[in-house]
Amino acid sequence: MKVIINQSSNPVKADLRDERVKSPGFGKYYTDHMVVAEWDEKTGWSDAQLKAYGPLTLDPATMVFHYGQEIFEGMKAYIQPDGGISLFRPDANAKRFAKSAARIALPEMPVDFFVQTVEELVKADQNWVPKNVGESLYLRPFMIATEVGLGVRPSNKATYVLIATPAAAYFNAANAVTVWISTEYVRAAIGGTGEAKCGGNYAASLVAQKQAAEQGCDQVVWIDAKERKWIEEMGGMNLYFVKGKGKDAKIVTPKLTGTLLPGITRDSILSVAADLGYKTEEVMISMDDWRDGVKSGEISEIFACGTAAVVSAVGTAKSAQGTWVTGDGKPGPITDQIRATLLGIQHGTIADKHGWNKRVI
Ligand code: PLP
Ligand code: COI
Repeated sequence: MKVIINQSSNPVKADLRDERVKSPGFGKYYTDHMVVAEWDEKTGWSDAQLKAYGPLTLDPATMVFHYGQEIFEGMKAYIQPDGGISLFRPDANAKRFAKSAARIALPEMPVDFFVQTVEELVKADQNWVPKNVGESLYLRPFMIATEVGLGVRPSNKATYVLIATPAAAYFNAANAVTVWISTEYVRAAIGGTGEAKCGGNYAASLVAQKQAAEQGCDQVVWIDAKERKWIEEMGGMNLYFVKGKGKDAKIVTPKLTGTLLPGITRDSILSVAADLGYKTEEVMISMDDWRDGVKSGEISEIFACGTAAVVSAVGTAKSAQGTWVTGDGKPGPITDQIRATLLGIQHGTIADKHGWNKRVI
């Protein structure tokens, strides 16, 4: 499989594009191109087509509209000090995309083919990559079930689409986010789809996110479905807890039990924190541990991490059981250090000793 290049004949004019890239927001503007590939049970994957960004035309009986057979990924391309562009761990996204596909009964896309589509889109739309540290070109690969029919069974056709949007920080790094720990709704149960990056997980989360907003919170935090006490993750991010302070601090994150999304940022931070000299651990953390830890001061910082959000401090947590504030409610020094280190690696200003960056240009 290869990517066939068809340049857009009608790209956004350079001055308007540059204006958009300068204040990109998140998901506000889309680049000039997209990539589309088709899969059919009989013939497998087609070549991918890179072409002008534009609408998809689908029959109303297309399966994805009815039973939600859809998966996606989120990854970023970062400007480098010499003006080049790198992707961060694209193979990890490709592998997770294949795992998500397997869970949702969609076809697995070969890792190299997936990465090739991403590289070609970044090359074609390289002028859409923002120039500031902390900004990037956010890439959104997704796959939908495209067989036409209403029978509830795995689709025999699928369409892969890749789009891109210039992105600023998802949250303002100077502020800590406030979270609502939902004890009413759950995100995922063992045997469900929590480990997969499928649209359905997010659809199911929206009512709790709405409740969080009604409580004046930015994000929802999920607890486990069975015992209703173990902290799992945040809306679209994993969580980290800093225990103790300074050089002796221990940085812990909820264990992957099969219901959390295995975040690539989460995984990277386990290495980055160890490189910085901190002890790290994947553990079970309960709501009581959160409450007691911030009360006693043992938990000195909490942060969330993900591709879109990078690293964001978590300040106030609210739940049906009360309100708990971490430290002084503002981003702490270890959160800032981890954020700066990760961004430094991604932007090529700190040595990439794990070989995470994949140079595209
Ligand atoms: N958890 C959920 C539910 C997510 O949607 C995301 C975002 O992708 C993450 C965690 C963080 O994953 P990553 O670091 O791979 O972006
Ligand atoms: C990401 O970080 O890429 C996410 O998927 C989070 C959210 C925007 C869904």
